[in-house]
Amino acid sequence: MAETYDLLFQGATIVNQDGAGLADIGVKDGRIAAIGPLGKAKAAETMDVTGLHILPGVIDTQVHFREPGLEHKEDLQTGSASAVLGGVTAVFEMPNTKPATTSAAALADKVSRATGRMYCDFAFFVGATADNSGALAELERLPGAAGVKLFMGSSTGDLLVDDEATLARILAAISRRAAFHAEDEARLKERLFHQREGDPSSHSEWRDPQAALQATELLLRLAREAGKRVHVLHVSTAEEMALLARHKDIASVEVTPQHLTLAAPEAYAALGTRAQMNPPIRDRVHQEKLWWGLKQGVVDVLGSDHAPHTLEEKAKAYPATPSGMPGVQTLVPVMLDHVNAGRLSLARFVDLTSAGPQRLFGIAGKGRIAVGYDADFTIVDLKAKRVIEDTWIGSKCGWTPFAGRKVTGWPVGAIVRGRRAMWEGALGEPGGAPVRFGEALAK
Ligand code: DOR
Repeated sequence: MAETYDLLFQGATIVNQDGAGLADIGVKDGRIAAIGPLGKAKAAETMDVTGLHILPGVIDTQVHFREPGLEHKEDLQTGSASAVLGGVTAVFEMPNTKPATTSAAALADKVSRATGRMYCDFAFFVGATADNSGALAELERLPGAAGVKLFMGSSTGDLLVDDEATLARILAAISRRAAFHAEDEARLKERLFHQREGDPSSHSEWRDPQAALQATELLLRLAREAGKRVHVLHVSTAEEMALLARHKDIASVEVTPQHLTLAAPEAYAALGTRAQMNPPIRDRVHQEKLWWGLKQGVVDVLGSDHAPHTLEEKAKAYPATPSGMPGVQTLVPVMLDHVNAGRLSLARFVDLTSAGPQRLFGIAGKGRIAVGYDADFTIVDLKAKRVIEDTWIGSKCGWTPFAGRKVTGWPVGAIVRGRRAMWEGALGEPGGAPVRFGEALAK
């Protein structure tokens, strides 16, 4: 007798570890139950997705969703609505909220706020401080924890570990792969005089390539001494990419769609303070080396560093403006446009957004289209031509640095554990749950 599924996708091109090919997918109890020609199967619901591509659900491993404490910019529900509208099915959220996620209570609070209220699945990074360094080994293994995040240079919020001894102590104590914002705090302080009032292009002179390189050099040295793996977030300079290519046994690398797409000086001229982020948007020489790293396999994942600030906050005069730009909703269309322009293959995009996060963080049951895995899918129309507009943005901040950009390739659906979180621009029911990790499986 033919198998019965809850949901059956028919007619799409599936892109996964097997290459790309026409196949149906049967989903049962939120998991993938069968892949192949399933023409005779019965299902409670059948979706004809002929002409579309089904990719493993896109996992964005760096977003800032601002709850608790900064909900005027974003909250867990609006941030996750933005994610699924952009085809993202799971996010790892950063700890620089108010209060910062630096204790078991703060982590549990975020997990309970998020469960059933977010549209996508989620995990939260725990912020490292000098004060909680002794507790991090325990905190990083709690349910809902993506691992430890450490700011080596100050950015939005007050999380900071800028002394070598504390950094070494933390690296010695933890066992999971931690994520690092690598900019050298002492150098940032010394160079404050490079900020020019009203001129956001001076942001990249203040936070210069050397500040990023110095921090990454220190991190790699200490990680090697401690025998630990490290994940370097939003790599922005040519020098770091060359260095990281020599340390692939211990270092994983993230780049953002912004750093791959926007470049100085044009970005500052066109976008003003909206282009201000940490680490800064830099010139084409750096951008080309990021693409080199992506093509050569040095880059492991794409993270959006979705960092919403209101337009009112961004309208102040630099340097009174906050750093960061939204990005979780535009990651898929901006990068599919690069795929269509021949800058990366669709297989590489899948590697960067599902297999890559799974491999780095040991995600349990996600990151592949394979039987037994969660039925998380990013369903895209590779040929759709659209214009990205502020009005499309579901984030509370209501803007995107990519407004007005024409793209080819668009997210049509976000399926989270067999649930339609987004279909053709309409949100489904919020049913987000914590991502699970092999190194810290909840009992
Ligand atoms: O530009 C940034 N904004 N970089 C960060 O590291 C933090 C982020 C934010 O939270 O606003």
